[in-house]
Parts: sequence; structure tokens; C-alpha cells
Amino acid sequence: MKIALYPGTFDPVTNGHIDIIKRASRLIDKVIVGVLHNPAKKPFFTVQERIDLLKAVTSNMENVEVDSFSGLLVDYVKQRKIDVIIRGLRAVSDFEYEFQMALMNRKLNPEVETFFMMTSTEYSYLSSSIVKEVFQHNGCIDGLVPDVVIKAMEKNNYKII
Ligand code: COA
Repeated sequence: MKIALYPGTFDPVTNGHIDIIKRASRLIDKVIVGVLHNPAKKPFFTVQERIDLLKAVTSNMENVEVDSFSGLLVDYVKQRKIDVIIRGLRAVSDFEYEFQMALMNRKLNPEVETFFMMTSTEYSYLSSSIVKEVFQHNGCIDGLVPDVVIKAMEKNNYKII
């Protein structure tokens, strides 16, 4: 059985992330979505809120598990016996950062492999920050994040106006 890890901050999960999770889960036996506990990024949603949102939007995908981790990715990979890390590539600009991370992870653990998936074109311009920014200024984010995320943002009063 092959296990993949799709790591990220997911603050919040967007339809672009879901696209990658869905496509990866069709190819790999089990996909663990790993929410990074990274206080440096000053996330809007707590780790538990991000986990709950991810669980809600992946509840129809039987082979998808949602978990969180902190510290080095390679340590979590070893602990959970993960075979491959999945990363999405949105544009050429993602490449340099992803290349650096993949090589560093391989240096830290030569057995770890990273697979890259091209994001579907309709989500290639998306990021969690841009969604939050548009929402803050009362812009429409329909179709960019699941409804449950919009509700959570409204509930947490994620607006400055
Ligand atoms: N669709 C939409 N948005 C996407 C996307 C997709 N398919 N893929 C990435 N994004 C967005 C994210 O929403 C995020 O947006 P934001 O910056 O506005 O929040 C941005 O692209 C970055 O993506 P993310 O996957 O969250 O990257 P990250 O840089 O926060 O985290 C980790 C990457 C978790 C893999 C990395 O930081 C890590 O491994 N950390 C652990 C510590 C470690 O081992 N460090 C050494 C690594 S070499």
C-alpha cells in the first residue's frame, strides 16, 4: 500500500488544494493531508479549525486522512511511513521554491520522493492569502473555496470593513 502526504498550511483550504487532493487520491492508496503547525505564518484559522474544514471537504474521499504536524517534514514522513510527498505546481514561479524544498528533503532523507502535480488552470492563480484578501474587502470568493470555508470566514468575522 502506497501512502502519500500532501502537506501545507491550508489557511484556509481552497478549491485548488481540493483539486490536487482529489486527483492524488485516485492514484494513490492513501493520501494524508498534513496541516503544518507553523506559528511563523500567523494563520487566521487555528490548526484544529483548518483540520475540521479539511475533514469536512474530504469526507466523501474514503482514502483521505487529515492530520497535523510540526517540525521537519521528513521526520513526519518517517514517523508515518509515507512513501511520497505530493506538491502542486501552479506556475513557473512555484518551481524554484519547490525544487529547493524537494532537494533539501531528499538530502535529509534520501528515501523520500516528491511528486509534482500541475494545478488545474482555473486554480493556477489561487492562494489562501489572495482569497483572504479579497474576502476582507468584500470581494466575491464564490467558486474559489468551498461554501463551508466561506461560512467559517463569515463566522470568524474575517472582515476589516
Ligand atoms: N491551489 C491553491 N493554492 C495553492 C495550491 C493549490 N494547488 N498550492 C499551494 N497553494 C498556495 C497555498 O494556499 C499557500 O498560500 P499562502 O502563502 O497565501 O498561504 C501557498 O500556495 C503556499 O503553499 P503551502 O503548501 O501552504 O506552502 P507552505 O510554504 O506554507 O508550506 C510545507 C510548505 C508545509 C511543505 C513546508 O513549509 C514544510 O515542509 N515545512 C515543514 C518544515 C520543514 O521540513 N522545512 C524544510 C523543508 S525543505
